Amino acid sequence: MIGVIGSISTDFVVTTNRVPKQGETVYGQAFETTFGGKGANQAVAAARLGGRVQMFGCVGGDQFGQETKANLARNGVDVTAIKTIEDTTTGSAHITVFEGDNAIVYVPGANQEVTVDYLKSVEADLLACTYFVIQNEIPMPSIQYLIDLADAHDIKVTYDPAPFIEIDKAYLEKVDYLLPNETEAKEMFGDQDVDALLGQYPAQLLITMGGDGIRYHDGEVAVHVPAIKGEVVDTTGAGDTFSGAFTVALSKGNSLADAIQFASIAGSLSVQKFGAQGGMPTIDALKAHEKFNDSWQV
Ligand code: RIB
Repeated sequence: MIGVIGSISTDFVVTTNRVPKQGETVYGQAFETTFGGKGANQAVAAARLGGRVQMFGCVGGDQFGQETKANLARNGVDVTAIKTIEDTTTGSAHITVFEGDNAIVYVPGANQEVTVDYLKSVEADLLACTYFVIQNEIPMPSIQYLIDLADAHDIKVTYDPAPFIEIDKAYLEKVDYLLPNETEAKEMFGDQDVDALLGQYPAQLLITMGGDGIRYHDGEVAVHVPAIKGEVVDTTGAGDTFSGAFTVALSKGNSLADAIQFASIAGSLSVQKFGAQGGMPTIDALKAHEKFNDSWQV
């Protein structure tokens, strides 16, 4: 079982041809409400690709709480450990999409209630997982608690440090896979030579670079995996799709290199449709891709 511990949110998405300056009003082209939250996105990505996934998180007692939970269940995610907190609003993200790329203001709401106490209340379910997927849209003490719990119980951890929050480096040593994008890698490690940095975390640190692919160190050499090109409609959720897909591929017994290729296909398909979860592929869609390799375990 893959346990995704993280945010569950509603995305309020505005598409615009021009991003307003501070104090300015511009006309937008469209407004949509879609399902999001980095954690929920990772869970949906993993479940659509054939993973057995349980979501751990909190929603508010509003309509968005019910809708986001129902959406996870519809996508095949186990929602039994999700807690509803009646007097709180469900997490939300306020997104501007401009030329296919996005800018996000995240308001945690109930995601702030994913506390250590909550995690202790669902510990039996957490310990039934073989993989944890974690990101930074829940409180840092909870992230640290989960990394320690995983370390003590031999649970593998995929940690996507987005959005960036300062974390003690000792915790980074304990995670199995660390997946920052280029900006987060700089915030985390400073402006150092990328190959030298990757060499310090072989087969552990993967830097995702959007249209420029992925870089990591395989234990012998630094590797650059080019991105799989395709039409880009909306990049929202591409990183979450990558993390979820990558973890599913590893959980099925694929090698690190194959898991990266598998996740790259998933990421490239995800940006071809609107919304964080709109383009996330099913396993059948991924198998139909020309770069799919029949020797992969799915
Ligand atoms: O990674 C994309 C997600 O981050 C969006 O779905 C939004 O919820 C934001 O917080």
